[in-house]
Amino acid sequence: MHRLVVTPRWYRFPFMGARDLQIGAVWTAPAARQQGLAQLAIAEVHHRFAGEPVAFWYVIDAPNSASAALARACGYEFVATGRRTRRFGSRLLGQFVIERLVHAGEIETEATAPDCSAASAAGRTLSVSH
Ligand SMILES: CC(C)(COP(=O)(O)OP(=O)(O)OC[C@H]1O[C@@H](n2cnc3c(N)ncnc32)[C@H](O)[C@@H]1OP(=O)(O)O)[C@@H](O)C(=O)NCCC(=O)NCCS
Repeated sequence: MHRLVVTPRWYRFPFMGARDLQIGAVWTAPAARQQGLAQLAIAEVHHRFAGEPVAFWYVIDAPNSASAALARACGYEFVATGRRTRRFGSRLLGQFVIERLVHAGEIETEATAPDCSAASAAGRTLSVSH
């Protein structure tokens, strides 16, 4: 009925910090959508990592308005736009690369050790264009 995956940084997401986590592959069965399931599942992820020094990322495909609405509802702040690269001609082997920081100076990426406010379980979203 619902699934999501929590992953640490790996080569496809070079903007993530060493202790960042990403919530991805979020999917709710069509018949169960807009009933709060995805929001509940993401809240459970935040709860499970409460107290740990992790920052959460959520990557949105630019045209996916439902995904963007979910991120907003979960308190995620839109911090950057980016794009997918290809490797050996394949998008599956490519990376997600930040092109523009919306809040330059406020966001901390791998270069400056990310941090997630203890006062908020919210995270950051990266909007990716095709
Ligand atoms: C995106 C998706 C996971 C949302 O799941 P869901 O269980 O329906 O989401 P929820 O019911 O928890 O809704 C969370 C918030 O998003 C909003 N929302 C969800 N779907 C929406 C839609 N189609 N249009 C507008 N807002 C939407 C809800 O209104 C809610 O906001 P609110 O609390 O302010 O009202 C689901 O539409 C889906 O599986 N889509 C296909 C896969 C996908 O695109 N995954 C995301 C990329 S990884």
